[in-house]
Amino acid sequence: MGKSVSPLEAARASYQPRFPPVLDRGAGEIAFEEGRATTAQADTRRIAARFPRTYGRPVQKLIPGAAAADPEPATVGVVLSGGQAPGGHNVIAGLYDGLQVARPASRLLGFLGGPRGILEGRFRELDAEVLRPYRNTGGFDLLGAGRDKIETDDQLAACRATCEKLGLTGLVIIGGDDSNTNAAVLAEYFLSQGVAVCVNGVPKTIDGDLKGEQVEASFGFDTATKVYSELIGNICRDALSAKKYWHFIKLMGRSASHVTLECALQTQPNVALIGEEVREKEWTLEQIVDHVATVVGDRAAAGKHYGVCLIPEGLIEFIPEMRRLIDGLNRAGSVLDKLSAADALVFDSLPATIREQLLQDRDAHGNVQVSRIDTEQLLIHKLAERGKLLVQGHFFGYEGRCAVPSNFDADYTYALGRLAAVLTVSGKTGYMCRFGNLVLPPDRWTASGVPLTSLMRVEQRRGRPTEVIEKALVRLDGAPFRAFAAARGRWAVEDEYRYPGAIQYFGPATVSSTITETLRLERGSVE
Ligand code: FBP
Repeated sequence: MGKSVSPLEAARASYQPRFPPVLDRGAGEIAFEEGRATTAQADTRRIAARFPRTYGRPVQKLIPGAAAADPEPATVGVVLSGGQAPGGHNVIAGLYDGLQVARPASRLLGFLGGPRGILEGRFRELDAEVLRPYRNTGGFDLLGAGRDKIETDDQLAACRATCEKLGLTGLVIIGGDDSNTNAAVLAEYFLSQGVAVCVNGVPKTIDGDLKGEQVEASFGFDTATKVYSELIGNICRDALSAKKYWHFIKLMGRSASHVTLECALQTQPNVALIGEEVREKEWTLEQIVDHVATVVGDRAAAGKHYGVCLIPEGLIEFIPEMRRLIDGLNRAGSVLDKLSAADALVFDSLPATIREQLLQDRDAHGNVQVSRIDTEQLLIHKLAERGKLLVQGHFFGYEGRCAVPSNFDADYTYALGRLAAVLTVSGKTGYMCRFGNLVLPPDRWTASGVPLTSLMRVEQRRGRPTEVIEKALVRLDGAPFRAFAAARGRWAVEDEYRYPGAIQYFGPATVSSTITETLRLERGSVE
């Protein structure tokens, strides 16, 4: 008996993702229009010096035309790096299909378990049969993922050895800001070593923080925020029905608060905290609690002993005294005796569970693992010190990362894979796949490769200035935050909850092809 699949899985298997027609052309039928030379986000001299071979190149826009065709089949590797995001499998399916269109009989090798698979040379061959059950599905289970880095000389040399052994001509890295930084480093390294392997990146992360002037959105954000917004809307309606609980909901997003902001715009809760605003206004933990307590009090005065509060998981790192404490703990190697008196005071004021969670292991990039810190419980604990409140705590994160991709993400990811194939077989290296006009239907998206170095700047990493792809935080002068700030006063007291409901995969475009409010507000006008 074959594997049992749900009715939705069966129906989604035959979904044909939409993509710009320029990508459906064979080898030699696509040309590149070069834009102006690029620079970097900041620290241009330093980025130029670190990436002498890949810095400053122009954006490469795909146009129909006749480029020099190389009919040789290609051998391309692909890796899924970092946290899961809906649509990863479709990037790989698009990459495979794109390779077959551009260079029939090309091979696609998928590295297992994330970047470690490249370092250890562990891979599986991907073909149409292997990919069939994974098309339009969520998850990264086709290959697995991991958070290993590729940065030391030994790691770079190990990558080179694997690529040469397998005869790769290209490598596609599907990942977030750190993984795409690794892609930039690898592209530069291969050029410096005369290794003919093109390395290109695909923007992935549910956090939505890999974007900017050039990159409109990372994949996975659309689906994940739709899943969370459905759940939050349901909770809003439960709160309004029972009228007895305050719900505190922590939402994923390791640093940036884009997920929380998008979910707030979708569901219109009574309170949504935005980490970037907390940092800008230097709100202490007590001031944040004051703010929430005021809304709780105002609603209670109106006879409303219920409400919904959204909390970004990265909040803790934006609170000045907590940020200092975390830095202090990192410097002290979590040895409490080595903390400064001020940090020790803050540490001691926290509930025991939060203290324990702050001492847990850091990730491979040296970050505190904020998904393991119960920030919603911290707020609940602090509010309880001020009076009795019936509360429920929630954390929505993993629930959304492997959801069946929305139509937007199914299309976007498949198109990203097709674009990665074209860039890679065209000899482009050190680029990020990029579509413009994402607010329009896919046949009107513009396709291009953006130099990874143009997305970079210098940031402090583990105490050292390091060239990295910039993490895009919520901008307080950006349209999504301004829309939220204009409405939140009303949402605090009135019950203006909005109920997005479940993701719709079929039916009229008005419900099945919606984009995020973030994208709509940021990119409402087209190129
Ligand atoms: P990426 O940036 O790698 O896409 O991962 C983001 C994320 O989902 C965060 O929102 C979350 O804090 C983190 O991963 C959780 O990591 P883990 O899967 O290791 O628990």
